[in-house]
Amino acid sequence: MCGIIGYIGERPACEVIVRGLKRLEYRGYDSAGIATENGGKLFIRKGAGRIDELTEELGFLDLPGKRGVGHTRWATHGVPSDVNAHPHTDCTGRIALVHNGIIENFAELREELLRRGHVFRSDTDTEVIVHLIEEELKSSENFEDAMRKALLRLKGSFALGIIYTEEPDRLYFVRNESPLVLGIGDGENFAASDVPAFLEYTNKVIFLDDREYAVVTKDSYVVKNLDTGETTEKPLHEIEWTLEMAEKAGFPHFMLKEIYEQPRAIRDAIHGNADVIRTAAEEIAKYEKIFIVAMGTSYHAGLVGKYLLQRLAKRVPVVEDASEFRYEFDDLVDENTLVIAITQSGETADTLAAMKLAKRKGAKVLGIVNVVGSMATRIADLTLYTHAGPEIGVAATKTYTTQLTVLTMLAVELARVLGTADEGYLDGLEEGLKGIPELVEAALKHDESLRELAESLVDRRDFFYIGRGISVPTALEGALKLKEISYIHAEGLSAGELKHGPLALIEKDVPVVAVAPGGRTFDKMVSNIEEALARGAFVVGLGDREDLKRISSVFVEMPPVDELLSPLLYIVPLQLLAYHLAVLRGNDPDKPRNLAKSVTVE
Ligand code: AGP
Repeated sequence: MCGIIGYIGERPACEVIVRGLKRLEYRGYDSAGIATENGGKLFIRKGAGRIDELTEELGFLDLPGKRGVGHTRWATHGVPSDVNAHPHTDCTGRIALVHNGIIENFAELREELLRRGHVFRSDTDTEVIVHLIEEELKSSENFEDAMRKALLRLKGSFALGIIYTEEPDRLYFVRNESPLVLGIGDGENFAASDVPAFLEYTNKVIFLDDREYAVVTKDSYVVKNLDTGETTEKPLHEIEWTLEMAEKAGFPHFMLKEIYEQPRAIRDAIHGNADVIRTAAEEIAKYEKIFIVAMGTSYHAGLVGKYLLQRLAKRVPVVEDASEFRYEFDDLVDENTLVIAITQSGETADTLAAMKLAKRKGAKVLGIVNVVGSMATRIADLTLYTHAGPEIGVAATKTYTTQLTVLTMLAVELARVLGTADEGYLDGLEEGLKGIPELVEAALKHDESLRELAESLVDRRDFFYIGRGISVPTALEGALKLKEISYIHAEGLSAGELKHGPLALIEKDVPVVAVAPGGRTFDKMVSNIEEALARGAFVVGLGDREDLKRISSVFVEMPPVDELLSPLLYIVPLQLLAYHLAVLRGNDPDKPRNLAKSVTVE
């Protein structure tokens, strides 16, 4: 997830763009750049680093011209570096472009353009776009036609800002599956990934829809359909948000915003790994002995990964808390071992130490990481990125569901390589995964009812989360979410464990959250729930079965989904429940006490 901004009007474009990029830094901050046009020439400054530093070091505010585009990067393809920073230009230096999104078919397009003699300077997927437009311009009537023809060849998500020096009065902005909004001023116009970027200049906005583009001058704009080229009428909205609210897109907290970003994040995780997952699966197919190491929420993702690998690829990984692995497993790791390290920050001290131990012992290390260029990506032999974008809330939400997305893709592909599951079933799972974003959208509709449920439970002191099979990690993760932001004690456990001790704690009105998607042990789950009910428990049942609805004190109806995909979906109401309980208890869910976003010390 990156931030883009464009400006055309009477002000110095560089000033508007620098201020806008500062407002967009929460969307990505590993590098930044600006392109302005003046007298038919492009002026570009860009580099790795934070916007404030780069403004000083590179002189962003010295750039001439009254139109320009800017970018603050969250790397997806190509590590953070000066050459990989946006804007990117074509070979002739007449087109400059900034991009937010992921181009899925960039590798094949890059090959084609290299064959046609184009010279690439970066490792990014973005750069293929600007060379593709350059190529189409050779055989097009005008720039707009060339741009459309080029963009119709792209697969994946893209929000673009484009300058063409031969047309001094306009800018082009394009939206497909990445957000882009126009800001309409008086004698000046703006476009950006998000409203905060220009809200101080205008609150009149036009929200572009997917597969639309805008041709913008300082006094006019026209919106067209990318596929047909036909003009589209768009309503003008007036935003009433404060700037602070706008940075959270109107949500009261980053955590809630990030919970709602999960459909987009899961789509990006699928797009971003489509062309690398096979290679990864072929690599790990060589290993029978597999460890998964991680901490906290990432550890819970590892436990889901274990069930997926067991059920689909008949591989049984040992999932270990990295702080234990690094001290207790050194004599069990060798050159025949694969270690899968899951870490959203890529900087968790215990996980990095476990990875370094594995490398010292000759093991192969696969990283599943969110932050491109983080330390974990430099230790791992191979990294799969989760493409969740920056997660500002301390509690992991979208980074968890994107970790599960990558693990699901990996388990399906490994089963294909090993021939350990029915091809038809694997294809069905793959299609089911692509449908998860819509199901998450449906699950988010429980938000208000979960807030009401939270109101009724706000004074409870102990919660129990139970599940069976692949739902055990979901129970553990639901409990962790509650603990870390509401400060209410919670325990996650397998439902079968209740009778072996914890049932002694169940008494009247003790909340028991039962994660019960249909599956091979659903009937056993019903029995465990009835054991808890018999002791007076208040059972919150999550599932899609009538039997569960009948016995639950409160029933959270979930869309039917394959049990192996259920962790992606069932965690969403648990994230919302924890969020609302935290807010009702007067906590700031974005900054829970005693915790840090990334635990870079032991
Ligand atoms: C989860 O909500 C917490 N933020 C924490 O448990 C986190 O998952 C853990 O510290 C691991 O972080 P990592 O994924 O960046 O390695």
